[in-house]
Amino acid sequence: MPDPIVVAEGLHKAFGGTRALRGLDLSVPRGTVCGLLGPNGAGKTTAVRILATLSDPDAGRAAVAGYDVVRDARKVRERIGLAGQYAAVDEKLTGRANLRMFGRLHHLPRREARTRADELLDRFGLADAADRRVAGYSGGMRRRLDLITCLLRRPKVLFLDEPTTGLDPRGRAEIWGAVRALVGDGTTVLLTTQYLDEADQLADDIAVIDRGRVIARGTPDELKAAIGDRLDVVLEDPSGLRPAAVVLHGLAGTDPAMTGRDRLSVPLPGGHRLADIVRELDRAGVAAADIRLRRPTLDEVFLRLTAQKESA
Ligand SMILES: Nc1ncnc2c1ncn2[C@@H]1O[C@H](COP(=O)(O)OP(=O)(O)O)[C@@H](O)[C@H]1O
Ligand SMILES: [Mg+2]
Repeated sequence: MPDPIVVAEGLHKAFGGTRALRGLDLSVPRGTVCGLLGPNGAGKTTAVRILATLSDPDAGRAAVAGYDVVRDARKVRERIGLAGQYAAVDEKLTGRANLRMFGRLHHLPRREARTRADELLDRFGLADAADRRVAGYSGGMRRRLDLITCLLRRPKVLFLDEPTTGLDPRGRAEIWGAVRALVGDGTTVLLTTQYLDEADQLADDIAVIDRGRVIARGTPDELKAAIGDRLDVVLEDPSGLRPAAVVLHGLAGTDPAMTGRDRLSVPLPGGHRLADIVRELDRAGVAAADIRLRRPTLDEVFLRLTAQKESA
């Protein structure tokens, strides 16, 4: 892998009897967006907190921008930004005053901080709202302001922990736009999400995390390809369900799911041809209104991956 800017090896972390991380490995190339995708409780926040130096691992090591997150925590902190689900901005102040306060807190040169703030407010669509109090901002606006505070210091790596959780669709779209703009700047982004579509939209690479471990890794396309295609069959008549299910089981080696009163869906290993499938159904006397071979959605990939681990 070329020049990873974030590396984690064998991270372990327990809270009492809860093993939040159980040997997490991660490697994020410079200038990319890595999506850490996993359900609630998978260990995403624990991993991000360790990488951002807010918490030490029990075992394993991690480095950001070449510095060890435990031994060189200060050096790491100077090079990262962390924006979370709970935007850390002061409600009573205007957006602009929040940024000014942040600049003073971090001893940024005043003029440069002001110019940079104006540029970022403009870029993230907050220029018109900059002199209004944050109390009147929407959720999406607050999080964009929070992002801007992180970006004032020009971090090399930005950690976004569930940046769109709790936002309405419009707020999510606003944050997605902001993240895309960052990537154009060359900032490396590590974002955690429970949303498959978010990882699909934003991430160059996805690490699927489940119970404290990375269980799959790849581009969205690679992950979809890894579990093969998906076969959807719509029958002309629900009475064909049983014979169709037998045929599909024979092809896929697993029971198809009923996805409607007249339809079935099954994951299919690569190499099957649509014409052969049609012929097999035909031979079993099944009349199909529609047969489709398609790439799985990331949702289906995720369900399959976590189910495989369950039975392993
Ligand atoms: N400070 C803590 N004290 C006790 N348990 C914790 C603490 N932080 C996280 N956990 C537990 O560790 C597991 C992973 O949590 P977390 O990293 O927050 O997952 P995620 O961010 O993926 O939802 C969960 O079971 C959670 O309850
Ligand atoms: Mg979390």
